[in-house]
Amino acid sequence: MPDITHAREPRLFALDQLLSRRSVGPLQEPAPAGADLDLILDAGLRAPDHGRLRPWRFVVIRGGARLAFGEKLGEAAAVRDPANAAALAERYRAWVRRTPMLIAVGAVVKPGNIPEIEQLLAAGAAAMNMLNALHMLGYGGMWVTGPNAYDPAVNRLLGFEAPSRLVGFLTAGTPAAATTAPVPARPERAAHVAEWTQD
Ligand SMILES: Cc1cc2nc3c(=O)[nH]c(=O)nc-3n(C[C@H](O)[C@H](O)[C@H](O)COP(=O)(O)O)c2cc1C
Repeated sequence: MPDITHAREPRLFALDQLLSRRSVGPLQEPAPAGADLDLILDAGLRAPDHGRLRPWRFVVIRGGARLAFGEKLGEAAAVRDPANAAALAERYRAWVRRTPMLIAVGAVVKPGNIPEIEQLLAAGAAAMNMLNALHMLGYGGMWVTGPNAYDPAVNRLLGFEAPSRLVGFLTAGTPAAATTAPVPARPERAAHVAEWTQD
């Protein structure tokens, strides 16, 4: 067993951070930038991946570009669902306006020995690392998908041509004051954990 006694306190602090992460809905400025953003992206790049394919790709969408992105989401929605085009355009316009930053997370999927699911899981692990890093640095965010994440036109716009694909969007910013409520309880451990035995 490795001797970690000298480093136990910082490790417990890190675990405490993992255990207190929550998704944050209402966000405000500032979004992470500079060295903070670099740390968050580097945390994503610590995710495991099979075969050293390095499939993770992160597309940062912020500032004026995010408003332009919202317009593009509206255009894509108009193709998917013409009957509701106006309402969807307004929904996505409002979404990007109230979201200080988006990080689109996807996998560049390489056909070959490593199954697609493993490449997508690696991108998912990167997303999770970045959510944790956001939280540890005092920011907040949430992993969202919805129809945009599965729309080939939106995927292409962000550089994910099939078989490459998005695994979702991370919203990122500073938690609005109203989100300082206690962390919601997690499910009972026993409902999710079993121990396999031979008999
Ligand atoms: C792959 C994935 C996709 C998700 N997509 C959405 C989404 O589109 N909309 C949404 O409201 N929540 C979505 N969620 C759930 C939120 O990210 C979040 O986990 C949930 O609100 C519970 O909050 P918690 O993370 O604090 O437990 C998604 C979660 C995952 C893992």
